[in-house]
Amino acid sequence: MCGIVAYIGPREAYPILMKGLRRLEYRGYDSAGLCLLNSDLKVFKCKGKVSDLEDHVKDSDISGNIGMAHTRWATHGEPNQINAHPHFSQNKSLAIIHNGIIENYAALRSELMNRGYAFTSDTDTEVLIHLIEDIKINEKVSLQEAVRIALNQVIGAYAIVVISKSSPDKIIAARKGSPLVVGIGKNEFFVASDATPIIEYTDNVVFLNDEEIAIIRRNDELKILTVKNQEKTPYIQKLELSLSAIEKGGYDHFMLKEIFEQPRSIHDSMRGRLHLEQGLVTLGGIRDYEQKLLNAKRIIITACGTSWHAGLVGEYLIEDLARIPVEVEYSSEFRYRNPIITEEDVVIAISQSGETADTLAAIELAKGKGATVLGICNVVGSSIARATHAGVFTHAGPEIGVASTKAFTAQVAVLTLLALLLAQKKGTLPTSHFRRLLVELSTIPDKVEQTLKLNDKVKEIADIYMNATNALYLGRGYNFPVALEGALKLKEISYIHAEGYPAAEMKHGPIALIDEQMPVCVIATRRGTYEKVISNIQEVKARKGKIIAIINEGDETVKNLADHSIEIPETEEILVPLIATIPLQLLSYHIAVMRNCNVDQPRNLAKSVTVE
Ligand code: M6R
Repeated sequence: MCGIVAYIGPREAYPILMKGLRRLEYRGYDSAGLCLLNSDLKVFKCKGKVSDLEDHVKDSDISGNIGMAHTRWATHGEPNQINAHPHFSQNKSLAIIHNGIIENYAALRSELMNRGYAFTSDTDTEVLIHLIEDIKINEKVSLQEAVRIALNQVIGAYAIVVISKSSPDKIIAARKGSPLVVGIGKNEFFVASDATPIIEYTDNVVFLNDEEIAIIRRNDELKILTVKNQEKTPYIQKLELSLSAIEKGGYDHFMLKEIFEQPRSIHDSMRGRLHLEQGLVTLGGIRDYEQKLLNAKRIIITACGTSWHAGLVGEYLIEDLARIPVEVEYSSEFRYRNPIITEEDVVIAISQSGETADTLAAIELAKGKGATVLGICNVVGSSIARATHAGVFTHAGPEIGVASTKAFTAQVAVLTLLALLLAQKKGTLPTSHFRRLLVELSTIPDKVEQTLKLNDKVKEIADIYMNATNALYLGRGYNFPVALEGALKLKEISYIHAEGYPAAEMKHGPIALIDEQMPVCVIATRRGTYEKVISNIQEVKARKGKIIAIINEGDETVKNLADHSIEIPETEEILVPLIATIPLQLLSYHIAVMRNCNVDQPRNLAKSVTVE
């Protein structure tokens, strides 16, 4: 959460910082601020979005070719102007922006107060900048040394940038637990929470590792030190990211663009991995760990939110096809509940952003207990991609809308490949069945394309239910995680209360909610428990609930029962989530737009949840 961007070089910093903030706004958007150094340190900040900050600085002097900016997702202190970043040190000679949480801030704060420091905000960040100033003055050390000493006293997570009035040619940046990338241009440097603000200026980047401090000096080489004072050689990587991938490309919202990108993102996630002619699946990233997976006593999948839903599909797939026991754990529970993990377990962490704090902590826990930890991740160079022993990237491309869409289907595509790979190696599927699944999987991008043509039909249904206050999503088997995901999408962007349930569980409680006002979305595709789902639909109808059914093309039985039906192409039962999810994403999107909700930046949410 929180987005950070900084610049030092020959150009005016302000336009670069503002453009960068807009690209990072998906990370947090309750307040924004910036600092420019031009003989004096000038800080501007306000409650609200980046556009509010632009209005706020309209008549100010915004010149300067060194500066930093921040978009906030509040943790400590309410979202207001005072708590917005940057924060000054007491004598106003230093300023800081921060993403993360200083866990021992209370103890540090009272120590500093005893030494005469006064605090103007409720943030943990202000503690850090006072501490840096205190060290710099009392120990008479350089800015980087003061930052280094201060970071040794800090417990928690941070990505920070510090600028000093007395060092107009220097930026200090550091990270632990929160991401930070340094872009290296010609006589200029960029710092950001991810590469999106950097891409249009340079593709040479260094992803900082935990406990590394970047000392960035004008017209000098990048220097990296650890907080333990060891010098590191910067590892410069080439970015493989195109500018068009992070722009809206004519769509009204990133979410809609990302929904429509799914034929391509699913295809890209399978490219070079699904070999139809040879009849095999390869996953190069985990080749060295195949045996470990095949011998695993158990696979534990850990993730949060939508990635957890993909993990649930993964459980069904791997147990069904490869007959290896799988457990799916919310990372936030797993890390704190003293789980039994052995060296014979393989843990798979799933994350779009690769920065989710709870998932990172779950990975560290599992590694500490000797388990092999693999990742399924969308962001190359992210913390999770680097913390895991090996992994498979989903090639969904940058996902900017806060609601996860194309990342989910890409994760499911990769998990399907993994299940098939394990099934093939274990011989748990007859060859003809394996080949049939492979062929069908290769047709999924086209079937998703066909499904997207239902957009207008879905929009009509959205129009009918846009004022609903509650909604229920039901599915069984592979469609149960789809129901969970459909409900999450609706609630997070439209603020309509929605629950996903295994259809048969409805009669154990939620059925009490059903009346003529209640839309019930049922994923009732043929195969699997189709007949039983029909009975569940009857139960809803008997109580006057309104049925929106996701059915296969030509299914007159459910069509006659349902109030509305959305007909999707037929596929193998195990592949239905890849298709059935699409109309549910569209339904949430249209309802949210009709309710005038901020689809790409829903209230209280942030794209990457880097705090626990
Ligand atoms: O980046 P991750 O996949 O680790 O993020 C996990 C969740 O925070 C994320 O899926 C969240 O639930 C989305 N807002 C759902 O649309």
